[in-house]
Order: sequence, then C-alpha cells, then structure tokens
Amino acid sequence: MASKTSGASAYTFVDHKFDVVVVGAGGAGLRATLGMAEQGLKTACITKVFPTRSHTVAAQGGIAASLQNMGPDSWQWHMYDTVKGSDWLGDVDAMEYLVREAPAAVYELEHYGVPFSRTEEGKIYQRPFGGHMMNYGDGPPVQRTCAAADRTGHAILHTLYGQSLKNNAQFFIEYFALDLIMEPDGTCTGVVAWNLDDGTIHRFSAKMVVLATGGYGRAYFSATSAHTCTGDGGGMASRAGLPLQDMEFVQFHPTGIYGSGCLITEGARGEGGYLVNAEGERFMERYAPSAKDLASRDVVSRCMTLEIRDGRGVGKNKDHIFLHLDHLDPAVLHERLPGISESAKIFAGVDVTREPIPVLPTVHYNMGGIPTNYWGEVLNPTAGNPDRVSPGLMAVGEAGCASVHGANRLGSNSLIDLVVFGRAAAIRAGEVVDRNAPIQAPNAASVEKIMDRFDRLRHANGGTPTAVLREKMQRAMQDDAAVFRTQESLEQGCKRISQIWGEMKDIKVFDRSMIWNSDLVETLELENLMSNAIATVYGAEARKESRGAHAREDFSARDDANWRKHTLANVAENGEVTLTYRPVHTEPLLKEEDGGISLAKIAPKARVY
Ligand code: FUM
Repeated sequence: MASKTSGASAYTFVDHKFDVVVVGAGGAGLRATLGMAEQGLKTACITKVFPTRSHTVAAQGGIAASLQNMGPDSWQWHMYDTVKGSDWLGDVDAMEYLVREAPAAVYELEHYGVPFSRTEEGKIYQRPFGGHMMNYGDGPPVQRTCAAADRTGHAILHTLYGQSLKNNAQFFIEYFALDLIMEPDGTCTGVVAWNLDDGTIHRFSAKMVVLATGGYGRAYFSATSAHTCTGDGGGMASRAGLPLQDMEFVQFHPTGIYGSGCLITEGARGEGGYLVNAEGERFMERYAPSAKDLASRDVVSRCMTLEIRDGRGVGKNKDHIFLHLDHLDPAVLHERLPGISESAKIFAGVDVTREPIPVLPTVHYNMGGIPTNYWGEVLNPTAGNPDRVSPGLMAVGEAGCASVHGANRLGSNSLIDLVVFGRAAAIRAGEVVDRNAPIQAPNAASVEKIMDRFDRLRHANGGTPTAVLREKMQRAMQDDAAVFRTQESLEQGCKRISQIWGEMKDIKVFDRSMIWNSDLVETLELENLMSNAIATVYGAEARKESRGAHAREDFSARDDANWRKHTLANVAENGEVTLTYRPVHTEPLLKEEDGGISLAKIAPKARVY
C-alpha cells in the first residue's frame, strides 16, 4: 500500500511467485495461459481489463486454417498466400509453422467448445477472405476462414477464459502492468503491477514472463482498436532496452465505418459484399481483376484512397466509399453477419438490407512488435547473432513480431496467429522452465527504477493534460504515417512525435490517488503509446521503398536488394531512436522432398491480385 510520502521508497509490495506470468488476457494471452496451466506450470495471468473484454472480443470475420471443409485447400496454398501477403518480409520458418499448425489449433478450439458456425454436414463453416486464394495465388478465392457468424473472437475468448479457469490458472484482473523486472545481465525475472481496484502494488516473480498485451492502434486518431490497445508490452520492452521490430508497417482495414471507425468485417465482402465509388462503379475490378474486392487489405485500402483522391469518393464531401450488402439475401445477413448489421445501424444509421454502408480505411493492426522466434521467445539481436534469445521473456499475439505477417497481414491470419503462437509459447515454456528451480527474488534496483517512474508520473504537475498530448500524438500519426507516405510527411512525423516526446515532461496528472486513477492509467498508457509511435515514424522515414502497408509515393517500388530486412528500433529514455536491421529468415522448415514448399515457389516476385 502507498504511504503519504512520495518517491520510490513510498511504496510497499505484495509479493507473488509463479512459474509463468502472462501479461494480457486476449486470445494469445489466454491460449498461452491455458497451455501453461494444462502442463501443471503455476501460472498467473495479469490483465488490465476483464479477460472477456480484451480486444480479441471484437474480432469478427474468422480464423484461417486450411481445413478443406468447403473445397480444396492445403497448408502449402495457405503458406504461399501468407508469404505473398507479407510482401516477402515475413520469416518463412514462422509462416510455415503457423499454417501447418493452424488446422490442429482450430480443431483444438472446437474441442475446447468454440461454437463455430456449421455447414449442412455439421462441419466448421469457412468463408472467403482477402488474399486467400486457391492454386498458389492463381485463384479463385478459397473458403479458408473458419467463422462463428461474425463474432469469432468473442466465441474464442469466452471459451479460452473458461478453459483457463478450469485448469486453475490464477487471474489478476484489473491489474496494470508497470514494467518488467530485469537483472543486469538482461534476464527478465518478473513484472511489477498496480491493482487498480485497491491501489496495492504487486511484484510478480517468475521463471518466464509472457507479454500478450496486444497492439497500439490507439497511437492513431481513428482506429478499429479498443481504447485499451495502447502498446503496453512494446513500452515495457523498450524501457527494458529491447528493440521493437518492423514498426513502420501499420495496417489500415478497408472498411471502418465512416466517422466512428467501427469495424465492418472483411467477411462482409467474403459473403459477396462489394465496394463502389461515387459513379456507382465496382472499382476494385479495375485494380485487382482476379481477386477484386477480396484483394489483400493493404491493396484495397490504397485503391479506396486513390478513388477518393481522384474525386470519386461518395458523400457530401466526397471523402468515403460505399460498401453494398443490400443485394444479399437478408437470411444470409441475419445468419452470417448479424453483428455488423447491428453495428451499421448503430454507428451509421444504415439498414444493410436496403442501403450501402459508408466506409473508410481505418487503422486496424500492427504488423510490427517485439521480435520473437516462432516459439514466442523474445529476441535481442546483436550484430553477430540476429536470433539471440532474451532470457525469461516471451511475446505473443499482436504485441509480438514472429514475424508471420511481414509487411502486411492477411485477414483472419491474426486469430490463428494468437492461438498457434500462444500454444507454441506454452509448449516451449514446458521445455525450458525448470519447475524445481527456485524463483529468483525481485532485483531491488530494477524495482526501484520502476517505482521511480510510476511515482514521477503519479505526481506529474506540469501544464499539459494527458488527453491534450495524446490527441496531438494521434493527429500527428494520422496525418504523417498514413496509407500513403512521403519523405516530407515522414520527416514531419518524426519531428512532431519527437517534439511531443519532449513535451511529456510537462504532463499534468490531476488525480494523485491510487484507487481507480484513470488519469494516471491513461498517462502510463500514453508513455507506452509514445514508444511505439516514435519507433513507427522513424522506421518508416528510414525505409526508402514501398512494401506491404508501407506505401511511399517517392519510393513506389519494393526494393528487395536493399530492404528485404527487418527494422529494429531501440528507443532511449530521451526519445532517441536507434535503427539497426536483421535478416529475414528465408528457409522453409520442411525440405521439398519431405513435402515442403519449394524455395522457387515462394521466391519474391511482383505482388498482383
Ligand atoms: O475483417 C475482419 O473480420 C478482421 C479480421 C482480421 O483482422 O483478421
């Protein structure tokens, strides 16, 4: 409990010891928690929101796996699409692991109790999604995305939470993780967290910490992400001296509702919906003759932006696009897309059976994150060892970067990433965590540093309210690190975000209390967002090419010779960003003669849909 004085020494601690501590209770965090607990590891899951309120609950369209329930498919086709979707920046070993494990991971979810939609024969229903094709990209679109209507994330999250409880995982709900406890040699030995409900501070010591804190969509002004998506894991990793990887790749989802940014699932186009411009033209046929509205989402978002720029946007200000579902059978809308039908009514006042939905590309997903291998182990590369593991620390889900999405993620490859790599982290922890070893006591110097920062922010008494600085950051990111980028916009973005970093010193927190202090929570979140935002703009400014979601008007081509490499951004306390690079893994796991995909098949080429 906090005493009346200030400074790090003003705080006392409640101590806990676990084999594993997972931070975050979205799809990846819960799948990791469940996998750890199933193996008898003493597991805690710390989460700032109630588990079933984690942002995975908002995932709509589905989870990709080549089950072949609706027609021919294979993991090799799925792998090809994922490699191509990543614009050849993803790590090939990780992508292969993802797509090969995907069917088993989905069947496992089914057995845990996820209520998937069903075909007439009772199999899991699968729908088409952007960039998922038959025949190594030649098409037609494949039905690969397993769905529970348009509430797939909701169904998965509830099931995994129930299963985790059944396996005796211990939950610490509405605890805000402040920072990682680090040893001087770089080993992570735990995490300090603040119980928002009673104001106590907790030191969790563990043999393994798993960051599953989600993305940082709220660094932008308009995002499909929940307000809780504040890149807390990225902030903690940065402050622990670890790099963030490929942060310049920010995904815009083509169909955020105009105005509110609320997601309309790509499943809507999977079920037959289509986009039109002010002339009533189905313009995607012009840009992507084969995949059309089901081209990869970076492609669709750019095409929509071009249509608007060329004066063919709809509405009074010609600044958005229409998504038509009104030609679809109302029974299909009711059965397969009930959630977005409701969202369109609430957020756009539209009856989808009669009118088109006004939509706009909206920030949706961060391809970048804390670098890991495909077991979820965090990497802290050196020049001589680009795959060096950082002991005691894992990262999974959107917080991590394995890297299976490279420069652009395919829709429905996110939910599968969460469960495959949550599960992989648990498998790996089962191998590397020594259950009989003593749990290390928290490093006093590390804890003191954590509490110094907490106390400084709690008593911050400058002239700028958190909300003012946050909006400044969000506006800068929205303006300068957008769908299309130029040297000028990115230089301006670096300047603006660095300036805001400096202004953080002048922040004003009005509430000094320890119980449900949302002002302080938002300030801690803003610091986390800023680490992610600054890595994003500096990484983007440096990358002189276009690849996936990073579309530069001044460097419009992909440049494999110079830029097929991962960016690593180390953010210093003073906001200085140091960029280094590490090679992309280009070798598949399985050799061709053993049934693997050939290197020639996945060699870089022009990316057309
Ligand atoms: O469109 C959607 O349902 C989103 C899915 C995803 O981002 O994977």
